[in-house]
Amino acid sequence: MKYKNNNAVALSLTAALLFSSSSFAATTWKIAGGDSEGSSQHAFGLKFVEQLEAKTDGKYTGQLFMNSQLGSEQDTVVEAGLGTLDFSILAINNVTPFSPRVGVFTLPYVIQSLEEAELLTQGEVGAELVENTVEDAGVRIVGWAYTGFRVLTNSKQPVKTLEDLQQIIVRVPKNEIMIDTYKAWGGNPTPMAWSETFTALQQGVVDGQDNPYVTVDAMKFDTVQKYVTNIRYIFSIEPLIMSEALFQEQSPEVQQAIIEAGNAATKHSAEFLTANETRIKQQLVEKGMVISDPANGEKEWIDKATTSVWPKHYESIGGKDKLNRILRLLGREEI
Ligand code: MLT
Repeated sequence: MKYKNNNAVALSLTAALLFSSSSFAATTWKIAGGDSEGSSQHAFGLKFVEQLEAKTDGKYTGQLFMNSQLGSEQDTVVEAGLGTLDFSILAINNVTPFSPRVGVFTLPYVIQSLEEAELLTQGEVGAELVENTVEDAGVRIVGWAYTGFRVLTNSKQPVKTLEDLQQIIVRVPKNEIMIDTYKAWGGNPTPMAWSETFTALQQGVVDGQDNPYVTVDAMKFDTVQKYVTNIRYIFSIEPLIMSEALFQEQSPEVQQAIIEAGNAATKHSAEFLTANETRIKQQLVEKGMVISDPANGEKEWIDKATTSVWPKHYESIGGKDKLNRILRLLGREEI
């Protein structure tokens, strides 16, 4: 009798445990990231997951798969659009082929500081681009990481002039605006997925690439690149996108938690960049990288890019008026 009672207690305890563990099991979303640990994308992702858990009492969390483990950045846009991937953190230039209107953030020399990047992404322009990507690609931007200016690196020689640039082959993302910019400079752009870039640099298939200091460091490009040119043609904005189908499946409370976690990670990203970029640049010099500025304050680079690349892409980014609205917001002269 005593034995039977103990058995019954054990059974009901097991049931209680099973129930409680299933009712507390968190939903884990997969979050892809193109860059390695230590990158802005990684810092952003960690903060997003922390905040998502905090705002949903641990019912929702995310698992980060960095370094393109879930595919190239451009592939992750397709996957999230199809609903086979939950989230991805990636450079905006890799969203542009699927939602050309976000190309306005890749137009050379439009965004000239972190503050301008914050103003545009967190204001009416950013809100419009959120709607555009939902419509065009089935993905929703729920946060923005900021990574700094894309600088040019290469393994061959210092590059200070456009003539120097002609001596090297540069990997560029599969992005028409960036390809056209290198062509306008008289360069030799080779479009290639981000996930293939390190190997291509290592094997000498290409001589150089451009990405921000924080990314160069996180990806260990200093081991395969020596020279850096401080061009400032694109300030890298790296959104967190999520499958729109998944977003629409959530209750208003969970949607709100996702948006709030994205906002907190966005704020953290700006702080991360401000706190780390200068130190990382210095470390790269200590590791042997040689940094140059473009000759004559980059004037020739700016003139060539803006006069030929901007007009060619007015239509794809949503019209010249849109660019003028942005220039007005930034306190610049309209074109
Ligand atoms: C690229 O160059 O394709 C991207 O900017 C890489 C990145 O996400 O850091």
